[in-house]
Amino acid sequence: MSGTDFWSRVGDGLPSRLLVSGGAGFIGSAFVRLLLERDPGLRVTVLDKLTYAGNLANLDPVRAAPGYRFVRGDICDRELVGSLATEVDCIVNFAAESHVDRSILDPDAFIRTDVEGTHRLLEAARRAGHGRFLQVSTDEVYGDVPEPERSREGDPLRPRSPYSASKAAAELLCFAYHATYGLPVLVTRGSNTYGPYQYPEKIVPLFVTQALQGLPLPLYGDGRAVRDYLYVDDHARGVALVLARGRAGEAYNLGRGDRPVEGRAVAEAVLRLTGADPALLQPVQDRPGHDRRYALDSSRSRRLGWEPEVDFATGMERTVAWYRERRDWWEPIKSGEFQDFYRRNYHPVAGAPAEP
Ligand code: NAD
Ligand code: TYD
Repeated sequence: MSGTDFWSRVGDGLPSRLLVSGGAGFIGSAFVRLLLERDPGLRVTVLDKLTYAGNLANLDPVRAAPGYRFVRGDICDRELVGSLATEVDCIVNFAAESHVDRSILDPDAFIRTDVEGTHRLLEAARRAGHGRFLQVSTDEVYGDVPEPERSREGDPLRPRSPYSASKAAAELLCFAYHATYGLPVLVTRGSNTYGPYQYPEKIVPLFVTQALQGLPLPLYGDGRAVRDYLYVDDHARGVALVLARGRAGEAYNLGRGDRPVEGRAVAEAVLRLTGADPALLQPVQDRPGHDRRYALDSSRSRRLGWEPEVDFATGMERTVAWYRERRDWWEPIKSGEFQDFYRRNYHPVAGAPAEP
């Protein structure tokens, strides 16, 4: 799908004033860049708490766009969210605590932001009488999916980590607001996403930056758990298309579905593309409750015209090239709060069990 085809599918379906919560994070910032690079006059207010995962530098490429505005704040702040909602036509909610391993160590923040925060936003949208509310969710809400099944939107939600349970709870609130108050809610369920500007805690950016630093790549268990990796720009385009063309009250899976990739294969790709020493690969104790497989059937999104463009090999090349170039972006991050998390999760570096 060329850029022209994509925008012709979106057509005039996008609201003209958007509140993008979590827009300074990895996928949210890609979405904001996508929209403002296309139309710098679109009015996009980013609301972000700038937690460890938020980074204003992610929005540098569009900072000068006339329609761009940044507000630092918490989606749990009822007054702030209520007042911002009156200034826009819709809310797109990317804000979340988003890393499974952190949810195992400290679930509280997940319940607060992912569940209560989403509820605050829904309530604000309802009061403001918005014409659309898009909740960015995840394929992890389906839980572990046995071979050869693929999850479809009508399947039961069986989340198994505090993270995925918090995202499923948020979705249920969204659908309840649709059924009860008629709020036109849309939900996207994206698969594992990777690419530039991703905080180096999830497998791809963690392994790429570790390899570039000559540090261990800690592979959980037997390294055979499978994920469906989606390049971040494809995810952002999916959210934009569902926002423009989706049917209220529906969920939309966003996954490539063409190539299941094991953790071990991610590590091998990283080692090959960085030229790092294969001895850096270190099997470590498995993640508690580790989901073995996620797999999506995304035909509903494809019927809307969503076509992911970047395959795993190309996406990994681009990603490694970006992290090679942008040490200025990730080196300061890895020397700060990251160190505490790494010590707690992989203590005493790779090789030992995580502290629950
Ligand atoms: P991220 O962790 O990079 O970004 C989250 C953003 O939310 C950060 O900018 C953070 O500062 C902000 N935030 C956190 N708590 C907040 C609060 N209380 N108020 C305001 N802002 C707050 O996450 P991401 O990887 O970009 O994920 C974005 C969304 O997509 C999340 O909802 C996540 O569940 C979902 N998702 C992620 C993936 C993935 O592989 N990364 C896949 C599918 C779905
Ligand atoms: P991750 O990127 O955390 O995403 P998910 O939310 O799907 O768990 O992990 C992707 C896969 O990589 C998953 O099977 C766990 C594995 N993994 C490791 O082997 N080592 C690591 O250090 C991390 C973070 C993940």
